[in-house]
Amino acid sequence: MCGIVGYVGQRQAEDVIIEGLRRLEYRGYDSAGLAVVADGGLHWAKKAGKLTNLEAELEANPLPASRQGIGHTRWATHGAPTDENAHPHVSADGSVAVVHNGIIENFAALRAELKDEGVEFRSDTDTEVAAHLLARELAGGSTLQQAMGAVASRLEGAFTLVAVTPNELDTVVAARRNSPLVVGVGQGENFLASDVAAFIEHTRDALELGQDQVVTITPDAVTVTDFAGNPSEAHPYHVDWDLSAAEKQGHDWFMRKEIFEQPRAVADTLLGRWSDRGELVLDEVRISPEDLRRINKIVIVACGSSFYAGMVAKYAIEHWTRVACEVELASEFRYRDPIIDPMTLVVTISQSGETADTLMAIRHAREQGAKVIAICNTNGATIPRESDAVIYTHAGPEIGVASTKGFLTQVVACYLLGLYLAQVRGMKYGDEIRAIMTELEAMPDAIQSVLDGIEPVYQLARTMAVHEQAVFFLGRHVGYPVALEGALKLKEIAYMHAEGFAAGELKHGPIAVIEEGTPVFVIVPPQGRDQLHDKVVSNIQEIRARGARTIVLAEQGDESVRPFADTLFALPRCSTLLQPLVATVPLQAFALELATALGHDVDQPRNLAKSVTVE
Ligand code: F6R
Repeated sequence: MCGIVGYVGQRQAEDVIIEGLRRLEYRGYDSAGLAVVADGGLHWAKKAGKLTNLEAELEANPLPASRQGIGHTRWATHGAPTDENAHPHVSADGSVAVVHNGIIENFAALRAELKDEGVEFRSDTDTEVAAHLLARELAGGSTLQQAMGAVASRLEGAFTLVAVTPNELDTVVAARRNSPLVVGVGQGENFLASDVAAFIEHTRDALELGQDQVVTITPDAVTVTDFAGNPSEAHPYHVDWDLSAAEKQGHDWFMRKEIFEQPRAVADTLLGRWSDRGELVLDEVRISPEDLRRINKIVIVACGSSFYAGMVAKYAIEHWTRVACEVELASEFRYRDPIIDPMTLVVTISQSGETADTLMAIRHAREQGAKVIAICNTNGATIPRESDAVIYTHAGPEIGVASTKGFLTQVVACYLLGLYLAQVRGMKYGDEIRAIMTELEAMPDAIQSVLDGIEPVYQLARTMAVHEQAVFFLGRHVGYPVALEGALKLKEIAYMHAEGFAAGELKHGPIAVIEEGTPVFVIVPPQGRDQLHDKVVSNIQEIRARGARTIVLAEQGDESVRPFADTLFALPRCSTLLQPLVATVPLQAFALELATALGHDVDQPRNLAKSVTVE
């Protein structure tokens, strides 16, 4: 949610910043802008709409050469996506330009204070107050670093601010609270960005910043302080993927590339988890086995697709550990006074590791004494940093706004956690765990076989590319969250009305929406080994009798569904708990191809942003 870049070094700042913004555009694409310092002053350009609009503006009105600048790509919160509201915001006296990610919650009071002093506002944004406050501090004789600390301590809410002033050559200064910011450490150049993708082509050495820190970069130095100016620590790390991972590699969309990466991504989530001693190994579980044995409740908190991954995981975790597991939307969690105590294990699932709702939920949980384990894909992000333990999904960067490999690898990581808990708590013998691991290790090939046979799914999607149509998804048990995920994909990128239902719930109301020709996807549990199989087959007959067009996903060789399926897609054979790993894939591909056929921008769907860093 908003992408930020800062650069100082030997290259043309404009080129580095535009390239960085291109890699961060998944975070927001309502407007883009940049500011550089040259000829003793600030020069800037900003344009509503996608980055290409800004590039056209720069082509028409080039900025002077500079080696120091900041840039921003926006997901609008305060103020419409217009040129005026685009970042950077420049103070009235032209002494400072600032870009911002997050929400300044006390901006109304600050705006009133500044207006009383005669400041005239040129935008509707919360950010502009920061520009004027910084200018006031600079005018009082502060350095930009001091000004940033003073202003940041007056702000409430979530923010990353990055600023430049013509008074200080070769310097870019930033502050962060509750919003992402990483430092890229180069040779004779340094970078600031919301995400390492912005500078990965220049350096893979990064610094993870802490909460309430100010960071100053010059070409040769990075200085980190707290808001009061006291020296502070930042954690260095090396990014374990390179530029090629952040490129489309011949695919039309990042989302398609990421769908096809799923066999590899799932294999990487599983890699190295089984020790020579016949035990599961997780990344950083800084919770003692004694503490894990004491817990009497598990609460999974997450948002969107990650929440659905949690819903899938609940079935496995309860089945394997016999510990009660609740799954909760992070945005609802802390506002309902949840019953959490030191015996509760909170599991948080977040691809980005920066989702504000999820972050606030885990802070609340820790305040109540709960231990928190994060399942996350982004190294060094805020959520894993603030958790007691982390299991990284190792899926590589997910750039398409709609989550795909993120979701599948979260399910796998949750399963690893479930097995680990079962191991630690003595609920499963080593050979039982090994048997499930063997099944999990077969999943990359199973997913690959789904992808190898994906063409009929694409063909169906192309024939259904009609805006007005509503599409429904049915599933039971772990198939229910898969149905919800399938519907979410279609809503997000095809903008179609899509709903997921628990198949058994249909008769309690939703069946009324079925009419002649209504397309309904049904995920059928594995035959024979699953008690729900026959019930779902009956559900298919019920909707078909009412005119539904049934699109059935069932295990290879399951002939019992054939008479009731208008379209049948075969899934590789696997146990019920693992079926989501293969059943989700055709639903992702269906949404992708349908959205493509409708002419939508699949990677940057309207109104959405990849990383939701505001509550
Ligand atoms: C759906 C999607 C979102 C995210 C949600 C949580 O395709 O991408 O629903 O799953 O915003 O994001 P993370 O996992 O980054 O916390």
